[in-house]
Amino acid sequence: MDMTKIPARQGVYNVESYEKVREGFDWNEIKKEFSWYETGKINAAYEAIDKHAKNPMMKDKTALIYSAPDREESITFEQLSKRSNQVANVLKKYNVAKGDRVFLFMPRSPEFYASFFAILKIGAIAGPLFEAFMEQAVRDRLEDSEATMLITTPGLLERVPVDELPALKQVVLVGDGEIDTERYIHFNKEVADASESFDIEWVDLEDGMLIHYTSGSTGKPKGVYHVHNAMIQHYATGKWVIDLKEDDVYWCTADPGWVTGTSYGIFAPWLNGVTNVIRGGRFTPESWYETLEKNKVTVWYTAPTALRKFVSAGEELVKQYDFSHLRHIMSVGEPLNPEVITWAQRVLNLRIHDTWWMTETGAMLIVNLPCMEVRPGSMGKPIPGIEAAIVDNEGNELPPNQMGNLAIRKGWPSMMRAIWNNPGKYESYFINGWYVSGDSAYMDEDGYFWFQGRLDDVINTSGERVGPFEVESKLIEHEAVGEAGVIGKPDPERGEIIKAFITLNPGYEATDELLEDIRLFVKKGLSAHAAPREIEITESIPKTRSGKIMRRLLKSWELGLPTGDTSTLEE
Ligand code: WTA
Repeated sequence: MDMTKIPARQGVYNVESYEKVREGFDWNEIKKEFSWYETGKINAAYEAIDKHAKNPMMKDKTALIYSAPDREESITFEQLSKRSNQVANVLKKYNVAKGDRVFLFMPRSPEFYASFFAILKIGAIAGPLFEAFMEQAVRDRLEDSEATMLITTPGLLERVPVDELPALKQVVLVGDGEIDTERYIHFNKEVADASESFDIEWVDLEDGMLIHYTSGSTGKPKGVYHVHNAMIQHYATGKWVIDLKEDDVYWCTADPGWVTGTSYGIFAPWLNGVTNVIRGGRFTPESWYETLEKNKVTVWYTAPTALRKFVSAGEELVKQYDFSHLRHIMSVGEPLNPEVITWAQRVLNLRIHDTWWMTETGAMLIVNLPCMEVRPGSMGKPIPGIEAAIVDNEGNELPPNQMGNLAIRKGWPSMMRAIWNNPGKYESYFINGWYVSGDSAYMDEDGYFWFQGRLDDVINTSGERVGPFEVESKLIEHEAVGEAGVIGKPDPERGEIIKAFITLNPGYEATDELLEDIRLFVKKGLSAHAAPREIEITESIPKTRSGKIMRRLLKSWELGLPTGDTSTLEE
């Protein structure tokens, strides 16, 4: 079989023809499916949950199947609506108001999802934080967003420098243990006493909904700000790309601390009224296969890193499970290896559909619709309503097969509307009417886009975006470290691993213990995924005359490549 082009399987898809759905496309048509069309107002929490809870045909349908090693729970749309109303009443009691930033720092759990919708129901802005973040990562995000409330657990509280965050007025603790109610709000107790009805705050399409922090080449993490309008695209891509239908059981494996875990772990499935599986706990191939089998998952959205681990785990393991209900798989976050697609064809008799997008874009932009021919290695084509191109540094379009900046015509529903507190950074994304992604790619004659790499120094390790600056800043806080330069080093399983080059301060000797201590220092300060897997000691770190670390040069050294233009290198 020719694996360079895999035809679509026979089947009934929500979109039958790529060309047809793009023809005369208008986002406003989709808005008509929401309350906004009648009232001019909207709330994504209403559209995702309350609307179904009010529908007699839908209210008892399972919205959420929660499955963790120590807890299993099924929750209907009506129950999720009532629980989020209860939390919303608690937030209101403590004076949370429209536009306030309320951050969530806890593992995936039913309480997380009820709280997330509660924040939206108030008209406040949700800021979900990845549960593995350590103190510095938490501090940076709460400081920058000036969050006034944090919902967390007693176990994670020690990573929150509560007394050093002047804007943070209230901390809510979710858990059953002893809670100091003088200082903290006792979630379980307060919620149990709260009313199950709540008057939702109707907002404008352009009102704030969500902030996700993400990393760039330089500086601290940036707060990518999204508005309720984004749900239009979450809903539409849920229909077209995820191909969600009434009876689907859908599982998105991403954590809601990252954008995939909200756009496609929350909005897309629930806006489409579909049963959504949420799995807590750690990844192992066995436990994930079990989740697919036990819940009879039909549609699965995951990441290349996980898929590569399944491939390594072997075909024998696959044969121990029943995946007969699975009909559609998608991937995001990193380049999807053609070998993985070939593997899934052979072992599962299913294609894997790559999708491309970013925290900043809020939703899928370049995809493989189920009805399309899949070309392994390509990210696919732009969704309806989206114009994508390859442009040069001035924002001029380049012809097919030429490599350049992957760019999207500015102004789609889920596009970020700001970088929190940083208008200059926001403006810098746009050139000549294009949003310039920072990814390099080319487009073939048939309009398929092919990813080539990042144009900046952002590292993508196991699908997680890490900014080298953050890691370097943490490294030099260690007493033994003088200077540090951090790069992504290609890795067959993780895509890239983090490699740090450091100089040692006088009096320190390069021992294995010291290197391990430095690694742990970053892990404990930032998070496990940001800790360098490799540390190399050098005499000096190459810098430009203006003092910028030349990571490009470090990378060339690492890979044994020609070093290119070094004219700006400091003496
Ligand atoms: C990379 C995740 C290759 C890319 C939703 C992008 C991809 C960054 C793909 C965004 C893909 C995402 N193929 N690379 N299909 N999808 N990327 O913000 O470099 O965590 O710029 O958003 O991941 O990562 P982020």
